[in-house]
Amino acid sequence: MPERREAETRLRRLRKTEPIRRLVSETALTASNFIAPVFVRYGKGVTEPVEAMPGVNRYSVDRVSEYATRLEEAKIPAVLLFGIPESKDEVGSGAYASEGVVPRAIAEIKKTTPSMVVAADVCLCEYTSHGHCGVLKGGQVDNDATLPLLAKAAVEYARAGADIVAPSAMMDFQVAAIRSALEDARLSETLVMGYSAKFASSFYGPFREAAGSAPSFGDRKAYQMSPANSRQAMREIEKDVQEGADIVMVKPALSYLDIIAQARSRFHLPIAAYSVSGEYSAIKAAAMNGWIDERAMAMEVLTSIKRAGADVIITYFAEAAAGWLKEGL
Ligand code: PBG
Repeated sequence: MPERREAETRLRRLRKTEPIRRLVSETALTASNFIAPVFVRYGKGVTEPVEAMPGVNRYSVDRVSEYATRLEEAKIPAVLLFGIPESKDEVGSGAYASEGVVPRAIAEIKKTTPSMVVAADVCLCEYTSHGHCGVLKGGQVDNDATLPLLAKAAVEYARAGADIVAPSAMMDFQVAAIRSALEDARLSETLVMGYSAKFASSFYGPFREAAGSAPSFGDRKAYQMSPANSRQAMREIEKDVQEGADIVMVKPALSYLDIIAQARSRFHLPIAAYSVSGEYSAIKAAAMNGWIDERAMAMEVLTSIKRAGADVIITYFAEAAAGWLKEGL
């Protein structure tokens, strides 16, 4: 055998033509893994653009089905609902009111598009006057006093027909509290998707404008994770798994691909990655300035999230990306 020369390995052979490149592609995006976030608001007949997120709207309950129908036509299998109530109070009552915006929206969507998987975000921040994700005691968010309220909200959403409840408050034991409340209410079929590794991120800025949920004082660093920590992220995920989560989430996505990849190699349940508002708006803004190619950049980012190991991708590009996928990359 003649000795193999280094030069015989030419990786460019694998990139020669589009069909060859496609043939050896390791990662394929599909719309069937997308979840589209949806903002549902009080009022009637309202479709209101979110200024900081071009292309994203807030829909009143009576308008939300129109949007869900469009998503279904685009082959998006799932939505994640966020509620914007008419009024807020200290204890976030709107989050767990049985006639609140989210339970009503769930019922509407299930009526018009029954096969749409409906997930509902479970948190207090959109409903509290102070904008924190739990109730306050002595100027601090009180973990254990918040748990029953999150559990109550989750039960209301599940009762209204939600397939998935997704606690995002970053309270310790939130998954356990919700899981056991669902069992007690005989709603054992409802999935829990934990926002397990949720970081205190500047990428949430546009969302807070959309949902009017910016904290009125301080920040969320006493409950959301520090961007510096990955080992702690594994502990957060491990804990949600023990508490009975069906799906665990890493959020944001793009600055946390290492966390997604580590989680993928350690855990065997589905991993969701939430490509958050700031990731969306940054691409949109640059594209609107003509500085980058929106479609190419959005698809590159989504592909990288999938390659890192996410099974499920929550993205504001869901509808657009499904359209691009249909046209072919
Ligand atoms: C909290 C929640 C937030 C997001 C999802 N759930 C905001 C926050 O923690 O401040 C952010 C999502 C995004 O930025 O797209 N209920």
